[in-house]
Amino acid sequence: MNMSKVKEQEEFIENLLHKMTLEEKIGQLNQVSTSIVGGFDVSFEELIEMMTDGRISKSEFDRMMAKAEIDYHEEDIRKGNIGSFMLNNPEKANELQKIAVEESRLGIPMIFALDVIHGFQTIFPIPLAEACSFNDCCFEKTAVIASEEAYAHAVRWTFAPMLDIARDARWGRISESAGEDPYLCSRYARAKIRGFQGDGEIHTIAACAKHFAGYGACEAGRDYNTVSMAKSMFYNSYLPPFAAAVSEGADTVMAAFNDLNGIPCTMNSWLMKDVLRKRLGFDGLVVSDANAIKECISHGYAEDEADAAVKALNAGMEIDMGTSIFLTKLRDAVQNGDVKESAVNEAVRNILRVKARLGLFENPYISADEMRCFDRLPAEHLEAAQEAAEKSAVLLKNDFLPGTKRRLLPLAADTRISLVGALADMPEENFGAWSVAGDPSYCISLKQALEERKADFRYFPCCAPEGELNHEEAAQAASYGDVIVAILGETASQSGEASSRSFIGLSGHQQELLKLLQASGKPVVLLLQNGRPLALSWENENIPAILECWQLGTMMGPAVSRILFGEVNPSGKLSASFPRVTGQCPIYYNHPNTGRPGGKSKFTSRYLDTENGPLYPFGYGLSYTEFTYSDFEAEKTDSGVHLSVAVENAGNADGAETIQFYMQDVTASLVRPVRELRGYQKVFLKAGEKSRCEVCIPQKSLGFYDEDGKLRMEKGNFRFYAGGSSEAELQTELMFFD
Ligand code: GLC
Repeated sequence: MNMSKVKEQEEFIENLLHKMTLEEKIGQLNQVSTSIVGGFDVSFEELIEMMTDGRISKSEFDRMMAKAEIDYHEEDIRKGNIGSFMLNNPEKANELQKIAVEESRLGIPMIFALDVIHGFQTIFPIPLAEACSFNDCCFEKTAVIASEEAYAHAVRWTFAPMLDIARDARWGRISESAGEDPYLCSRYARAKIRGFQGDGEIHTIAACAKHFAGYGACEAGRDYNTVSMAKSMFYNSYLPPFAAAVSEGADTVMAAFNDLNGIPCTMNSWLMKDVLRKRLGFDGLVVSDANAIKECISHGYAEDEADAAVKALNAGMEIDMGTSIFLTKLRDAVQNGDVKESAVNEAVRNILRVKARLGLFENPYISADEMRCFDRLPAEHLEAAQEAAEKSAVLLKNDFLPGTKRRLLPLAADTRISLVGALADMPEENFGAWSVAGDPSYCISLKQALEERKADFRYFPCCAPEGELNHEEAAQAASYGDVIVAILGETASQSGEASSRSFIGLSGHQQELLKLLQASGKPVVLLLQNGRPLALSWENENIPAILECWQLGTMMGPAVSRILFGEVNPSGKLSASFPRVTGQCPIYYNHPNTGRPGGKSKFTSRYLDTENGPLYPFGYGLSYTEFTYSDFEAEKTDSGVHLSVAVENAGNADGAETIQFYMQDVTASLVRPVRELRGYQKVFLKAGEKSRCEVCIPQKSLGFYDEDGKLRMEKGNFRFYAGGSSEAELQTELMFFD
């Protein structure tokens, strides 16, 4: 936006702020969602309990909900007490917006918000999976489509992208993250902010960099748990994706539930003022997570709601999601001097600025035409979903068929298949966590996709991720097909929020089923449908082909079937390490070396009962062809270092490869990781084709931040690596800053 437009916008905001009463200012800080106030003969909480413990079915629950009496807080809107509203109902949004604009004293429009995490009606792969595509255009394109569909439903603010670095697969929310690496997550962040907000003066929807910050380092991988980390770790590993999002112009940031080194993020002025505002120059708004202001009482950091209101506002929190504590407590806090009105004014300024960037003052409603435009999802949205799904799957293993030079995958078109696993026909499970607005009617399951292509298969459900095992079906499956294709893993509810697992092998009876199938002597293809890295040592030892399919969204079925039969050559690379056993978590590639990194002696940093390294490392992924690397060069330039490497498609199938470049600062004033990703490029090569890939690493990227957040670029030896995973072997080194 040009400077005169910015000036005009800021003047508009100041003039409006000047007219506002203290109550109206506080109203802007209050965010609500609909509340169920009755309509059935039990309380809503009891109804939820009855469905959770199975006393009523989901469809009975839905039927009762249709009769629910819902409070849309009309009176509060009329009084100017609500600044933003979590809602997915465009007609109702227009109605409520009309009250805000035409019946409140100053007519300030509300922002309607929703969790549009990996798609709206069209659901794309879960973020952990999409990050495996290492495809920035894909990251951006799926965000553009999601923002268009959300906009048509009057949603103008999404609580995405989630930018938490996630190194512990026990944590269920790793599924919503872009994985373990700060560089990949930073590129993902930039692409998502561009995609959601658009590049025009009026933002399509406001993006939200969350959860600020350090949430992924929750102790023991247990959601909402405490977080302690050195500030240098914070600056070097957990902050970069947020810095990228802010520099790309993110409109909003959401504070995390956890405490960081003893202070809840919701009330952490070091985080929200020193880091976010001063260090990163953020000029958007900060929102709490759901109920988080009130939860600071449980944290033991706020005495009561009045104390929570004061501590949150004074620390830089600006919108209270869901507790009404700001609405009910801030007025007194200002009047008794615990909170300065100037602090409230600053919060309101940032909120009005985001509303102005969304064009809400000029255009607060959604037209009937806009609302209708995605009544039928356009083919290009579904095509984009299928393309994203095909690019996100990761081939983990693909052995030769015994006694042949032919690998098990891809399958020949006429292969007789036993399709095993309830997940093959549970299309609603393909969405994964956080698909609140997903339209299941478009979802195609793997079984449906195989039927559509008239594959020769019979289907044997046998077992769901947490269900009983049907031995008879397993025996039938083992005898029917020439090849057994088993799709196993997790339901959508086994990952995502409040879904940490203390054991991350295949759950329930799934491994037992797999052993029965493997004992048949027939070749078994394991398709994984899951929301986190799993511990798969036995599977890796005993199953000849393993394809990580994640939860790939609306078009999962067609995407996986095309990969299975070789119409698509899998090109995904892991965005997070897979452990051998749960006990290795947290496990990640960019770790320090320790003083006893390994060797013959007993007295080294190791386990007695498993290897140190991951089962499958970050950046790893196979192909139906093979890529070879050679001629790796590193050259110092005035601005940093230029790396280049030759890559050849040495196999007999066309395919895409993600060439990765890593660095290591060998000796420094703080111990540094053994490797750090500093560049990647995805290239498509025909069989036999050769190419040369090069990246320039800026000098600043050779440095690291110390405990005070100061960048250090120190003299010494730097190693560089290039290849197809974080275990790339091609290496060279250079002296720098001498
Ligand atoms: C949840 C999540 C957050 C989400 C918010 C609103 O508890 O932590 O990611 O955006 O509430 O649904």
